[in-house]
Amino acid sequence: SAAPAPAPSAPGPDAHLGYGKIILMGEHSVVYGYHAIAAPIGLSVRAQVTRQASLREPVIADWDVDGSVREPIRADLSHRVAALIAARLGVSAAGLRVDVFSHLPRASGLGASAAFAVALIRAVADSFQITISDAEVSSLAFECEQIVHGTPSGIDNTVATFGRSVLFQKTDAPGGHTIRDIFTPHPIPIVIGLSGVQSLTAQTVGLVRSAWQRNPARYDAIFSQIDGLVLAGVDALRRGDIAELGELMNINQGLLNALQVSSPEIEALVAIARRAGALGAKLTGGGGGGAMIAIAEPGGTDPIISAMRSAGYTTYLTEIR
Ligand code: MEV
Repeated sequence: SAAPAPAPSAPGPDAHLGYGKIILMGEHSVVYGYHAIAAPIGLSVRAQVTRQASLREPVIADWDVDGSVREPIRADLSHRVAALIAARLGVSAAGLRVDVFSHLPRASGLGASAAFAVALIRAVADSFQITISDAEVSSLAFECEQIVHGTPSGIDNTVATFGRSVLFQKTDAPGGHTIRDIFTPHPIPIVIGLSGVQSLTAQTVGLVRSAWQRNPARYDAIFSQIDGLVLAGVDALRRGDIAELGELMNINQGLLNALQVSSPEIEALVAIARRAGALGAKLTGGGGGGAMIAIAEPGGTDPIISAMRSAGYTTYLTEIR
C-alpha cells in the first residue's frame, strides 16, 4: 500500500528514538531466566507523529535512510502495536499519522521491532503532552514485543529504551527483570556482520522453546552453561580482557549452534572473522540468519571488516563502552 508523501524533514532536537542493540552473550537462554549482556549500537529508529483529524485509521509510513518508502514486513503487527500504544496511553489511534525513520536493518536480530515500539511510544506520548518515564516506556514496549515476538525476555525493549549496556536477567513477574550496568575500562570495538538472510526472532525463539519442551533437562543444561559464560564475560569486560571475552564468545557460539539457531551464512561469517584475526565471533540476537558480531583488540577491526566486505557482506562498526 502506498504511504502518503512527502517524507518529513530530518531529525529535530526533539527526535523520538528507540535504540538498536546487540546481544554480546546470552541470547535465547535469557528467555529462560538466565543472564545476558546487551549493548546499544549507533543505529536507531526515530518516529514522528502528526495528528490529522481526517484520518479514520492510523497511517504508518516506514522510511528508508535513502528517503524511499519501505514495505513493512508485517503491517498488521505494526498496526496492532500502534493500537496497543494508543490504548495504553488513553488516546485515540484514529487521526494519527506516524512516520518511522529507521537506520536499523530489519529481521536481523538487532532489535528493530523493540526500537520501533519505543520510538512510537515516545512520539505518541509527546504528541499528546503525556509525561511518561523511561521505565513506563520500557514496560509498554515489552507488551508491544509480546505481540511481535510471543515470549520476549524483555532485554530488547530495555536496551531500546535506555540505550546503555546492561547485564540483564528476567524475573518471574510478567515483564519483570533486574538490570546491572556493565563496566569496561576502555571501549571494546565490535564488528557487526549481516548474513543477508532475514530471520524473525519469534520463529527461532519458538524452535528453541519446542526443543526445550521435548527435553527440558537437556536444554536447561545448555542454558545454564551459557549462563556461566555470560557471568565470566562480565568479569572479562570489567578487566578489559578482550582475549578472554573473545574465547567466551566463541564457546557461546558453539552452544548457540547446539541450540540449532546458527545458519550456514552465520557460520561462514564467523569463520571469515576468526581467520581475519577476531578474538571472538558469534551470532547475535535471534539467529537463524540475521546478524553476527566479532571482537578484536582496538586497531584490529580493519582486516575483519575488509574480509567480510570482500566476501560480499554488509558490516557496521560499534563499540561496548
Ligand atoms: C533477541 O534479541 C534475544 C532473544 O534472546 C529473544 C529475547 O530475549 O526476547 C533471542
